[in-house]
Amino acid sequence: VRCQSPGVDKTKPKRSLFDNASNVLTNLLAGGSLRNMPVAEGAVTDLFDRPLFYSLYDWFLEHGSVYKLAFGPKSFVVVSDPIVARYILRENAFCYDKGVLAEILEPIMGKGLIPADLNTWKQRRKVITPGFHALFIEAMVRVFTKCSDRTILKLEELTEKGDHGDKSAIVNLEEEFSNLALDIIGLGVFNFDFDSVNKESPVIKAVYGTLFEAEHRSTFYIPYWNLPLTKWIVPRQRKFHSDLKVINDCLDNLIKNAKETRQDASLLRFLVDMRGADVDDRQLRDDLMTMLIAGHETTAAVLTWSVFLLAQNPTKMRKAQAEIDSVLDNGPITSDKLKKLEYIRLIIVESLRLYPQPPLLIRRALRPDKLPGGYNGAKEGYEIPAGTDIFLSIYNLHRSPYFWDRPNEFEPERFTVPKMDENIEGWSGFDPGRSPGAMYPNEIIADFAFLPFGGGPRKCVGDQFALLESTVALAMLLGKFDVELRGSPDEVEMVTGATIHTKNGLWCRLMKRT
Ligand code: HEM
Repeated sequence: VRCQSPGVDKTKPKRSLFDNASNVLTNLLAGGSLRNMPVAEGAVTDLFDRPLFYSLYDWFLEHGSVYKLAFGPKSFVVVSDPIVARYILRENAFCYDKGVLAEILEPIMGKGLIPADLNTWKQRRKVITPGFHALFIEAMVRVFTKCSDRTILKLEELTEKGDHGDKSAIVNLEEEFSNLALDIIGLGVFNFDFDSVNKESPVIKAVYGTLFEAEHRSTFYIPYWNLPLTKWIVPRQRKFHSDLKVINDCLDNLIKNAKETRQDASLLRFLVDMRGADVDDRQLRDDLMTMLIAGHETTAAVLTWSVFLLAQNPTKMRKAQAEIDSVLDNGPITSDKLKKLEYIRLIIVESLRLYPQPPLLIRRALRPDKLPGGYNGAKEGYEIPAGTDIFLSIYNLHRSPYFWDRPNEFEPERFTVPKMDENIEGWSGFDPGRSPGAMYPNEIIADFAFLPFGGGPRKCVGDQFALLESTVALAMLLGKFDVELRGSPDEVEMVTGATIHTKNGLWCRLMKRT
């Protein structure tokens, strides 16, 4: 990766609050705070016609790396700047909580890590993080392989039948990845085999129902589900509560079993063995539910977009398959072989750069604060009042023309250039030396210009689990099959909720490799 000069005309005056009448109105509606910040003047239809992060990107190029987005009485500060992101996520992390996101997720995840209040979060994070220790991850590689094997067997049967007389099959890979990721999270986190690759069950249906509702809530601006009686009156809320009960009953049983038996290698086993005495079952259930939701769609999305990108780049696809053939040599994947799958690992992180999951991080200021000056924000930084809602746009950071060459192109090789020039005050450039031994590029190497798993104390706890899981699944799939998109890439439209996914599935033609 080569760094370009920021190229932003700092002499150009920022759009002032009183540039035009509509701006005045917008700011009055927004409560008149954040007075010097540039304001995005988007029509509200911008928010519904296409995924929100597209509009946020256009406004980022127009207004700079910190701007205010106001619609109706509500306003958000949109941050697309590594220096400001580093400040919010790491340097002053405890001045912020998850705001709107916690409000949406609390009914589902209770006091799980994502929506938990600060005190609960501190206690649980201390207990859960060591659960992802090296031996657990090592044991998980076998779970990833076993589950991927099942998916491949199913796909082999489909291609064998060859709906098109040529030993190929048309498959919605997004759905297959979703089932695969669900099976892996079930076995890895609470030793439960959903086997969703092969069958449907009430629990699986309930999990998908709950995820669907979480997704719907994340795109719905009025929390109508908090209104009294909706739980009983609104059919979609009744269904949601009955799905939740099915999952909670299942998790309660698993917790009970884990307390009575002693065999498996799951995260639940670790949590029960290490800290069984000082945690109640309700908290354990919230922890499991949080990890089920946080670790499922995200990983499925990484696999979906990796295949989408590779299928449009046949040379890179062949390079990936050549690496897989030489490293695996038709044998099973082991931890040692994973280390040698360097190109596959870079494909996974490049897919996360182009399609970050989630594309936005959400925060709310607990106290008044002053943001630092960014590379393209006000030099002195902005004062923000308590209660300010912030969208940290990972999508904008990852596609920022100020930090990446050809930001919209798929180039896994970009991460192999060891050092990036650094010419932005307050940002220390790309340097793998800052994270020695890291198998995958991360936020430390990029000094917060690359944030696939967030950063600071609330960084994803499952990052290594997810990266290795994706590498195993992708390598096993591409080792066995040639994959082509069915139809043009433009037909694969995007929609977003918590993650970026396709509108109608990732339909591909799979052909067994010889
Ligand atoms: C938090 C991404 C997989 C569990 C996060 C955050 C990101 C993220 C960006 C930070 C959110 C924020 O700061 O607001 C991803 C991606 C994944 C993935 C891209 C897959 C490729 C997983 C897996 C698990 C998991 C597999 C568990 C098994 C969590 C939890 C948190 C979290 C519990 C909250 C941490 C806290 O607040 O302390 N994830 N994640 N994630 N993730 Fe992941």
